[in-house]
Amino acid sequence: MPGPGPDPDPVRVSEALQLVGVRKTYGAAGTTVTALDGVSLSLSAGTFTAIMGPSGSGKSTLLQCAAGLDRPDSGTIVVDGQPLAGRSEAQLTRFRRQRIGFVFQQYNLLPALTVLQNTVLPLELAGRRVDLARAREILGQVGLGNRLGNRPDQLSGGQRQRVAIARALLTEPSVIFADEPTGALDTRSAREILLLLREAVDVRGRTVVMVTHDPVAASHADTVLFLADGRIAGELPRPTADAVAERLTHLGDAVAAHDVAMEV
Ligand SMILES: Nc1ncnc2c1ncn2[C@@H]1O[C@H](COP(=O)(O)OP(=O)(O)O)[C@@H](O)[C@H]1O
Ligand SMILES: [Mg+2]
Repeated sequence: MPGPGPDPDPVRVSEALQLVGVRKTYGAAGTTVTALDGVSLSLSAGTFTAIMGPSGSGKSTLLQCAAGLDRPDSGTIVVDGQPLAGRSEAQLTRFRRQRIGFVFQQYNLLPALTVLQNTVLPLELAGRRVDLARAREILGQVGLGNRLGNRPDQLSGGQRQRVAIARALLTEPSVIFADEPTGALDTRSAREILLLLREAVDVRGRTVVMVTHDPVAASHADTVLFLADGRIAGELPRPTADAVAERLTHLGDAVAAHDVAMEV
């Protein structure tokens, strides 16, 4: 089970993702913003975790640091038993390409490439063997078997996000990070994306960490972790949409109360 508390044993190989005391600040002295204020968490392999919290609470920073796209000021990040620290940019990039998938709200597909070309691009960039049959198979599984030659601007938002998920799945990463993957989608397309992420966990054994604002989206996860002011502010296992919405309300109260306390 994921646990937000500090972990006395920082490297457990069965854990897909561990953060211990992760801090991240932005800006120069005097105007410093603390985005992550000592975040510790531990997520077992084969789990689906949603991260929720108010705007500015550090959700995206958490994902960027955990995915090795940004570096924390201090603390430890361990992906698939491997610490991220102490690697050069090139080593970090190689590690990311082997072990990590990322799905963005705005899809991040290359407009000049076809669906199939976008999907195999990470393998090409990593210098790995490109198995086109496997790429076609995965694209078929996400419902795009007849769209292989289309370019992104010929697809709906939901279809573009399915390409992004196929692209993330093809590299067989240990952890897939998704930052508001349904944020730009209608309800029905959002549900299709959430079912694909759920299937990535249940059928393919991937570990998914998803930031979302939507209690219904979060209810597809095994556990919700709440962030407030750069800290883990709670955990909800087996979330229902109603329970998540309820918790978010109280989280808002807590943050508002904190802000008032800071002003007076
Ligand atoms: N590149 C950046 N430069 C300066 N401040 C940033 C940067 N990225 C994020 N922040 C700040 O860090 C805090 C957390 O941001 P973020 O992780 O994007 O929150 P969330 O995704 O929960 O909305 C916010 O106060 C935000 O303004
Ligand atoms: Mg964000």
